[in-house]
Amino acid sequence: MSRIGIFYGSSSGVTKAAAEKLAGFLGEDRCDLYSMEEDFVDFDEMLDYDFLLFGCSTWGSGEVQNDWRDPLLDLDNDKPDFSGKTIAVFGAGDYVSHGEQFVSALGILYDKFKARGATLVGSFPTEGYTYKYSFAERDGQFVGLPFDDINEADKTEARLQAWVEVLQAYLPEAEEA
Ligand SMILES: Cc1cc2nc3c(=O)[nH]c(=O)nc-3n(C[C@H](O)[C@H](O)[C@H](O)COP(=O)(O)O)c2cc1C
Repeated sequence: MSRIGIFYGSSSGVTKAAAEKLAGFLGEDRCDLYSMEEDFVDFDEMLDYDFLLFGCSTWGSGEVQNDWRDPLLDLDNDKPDFSGKTIAVFGAGDYVSHGEQFVSALGILYDKFKARGATLVGSFPTEGYTYKYSFAERDGQFVGLPFDDINEADKTEARLQAWVEVLQAYLPEAEEA
């Protein structure tokens, strides 16, 4: 399907706000937003889409936001087939208080859905970010889009816009009106 499914988990609203901004940039009329807390039922909802954005902030010490925990356990157990699906991940972190596991949840989502056959896109340069370690950094790039509204909220909008440019190459064609 040509619509874009955006599924996000967000405890204090930062990743949620980013999900809503992304929908605005990509075109609200072609995006469906799902809160993992309120709207997610099972993976069939995700599998309705060929192109998906998954938002997840990092909590604990490098762990996924709470609303993604059970779904990821189900993913391991049920092993739904995501082959043919294109997925990009984004999420909030805090490089000052948690720079030793900065936005590591993005790396967890990346690995989990890659293992289920999805094609992961939307890597983003690490330039301009400060952190000690991130499980989301692979081969010198982030596997998706990180942002930090605790310490550098002024950079988030430009980062979201730059990421949307990266995604353009992978977006499904919009349906003719
Ligand atoms: C107890 C606690 C643990 C956290 N652990 C991490 C972490 O490991 N890595 C990180 O980058 N940010 C961490 N954070 C920061 C959150 O990711 C940050 O507050 C983010 O803006 C939350 O986004 P959300 O509102 O979308 O959930 C942590 C915050 C708290 C309060």
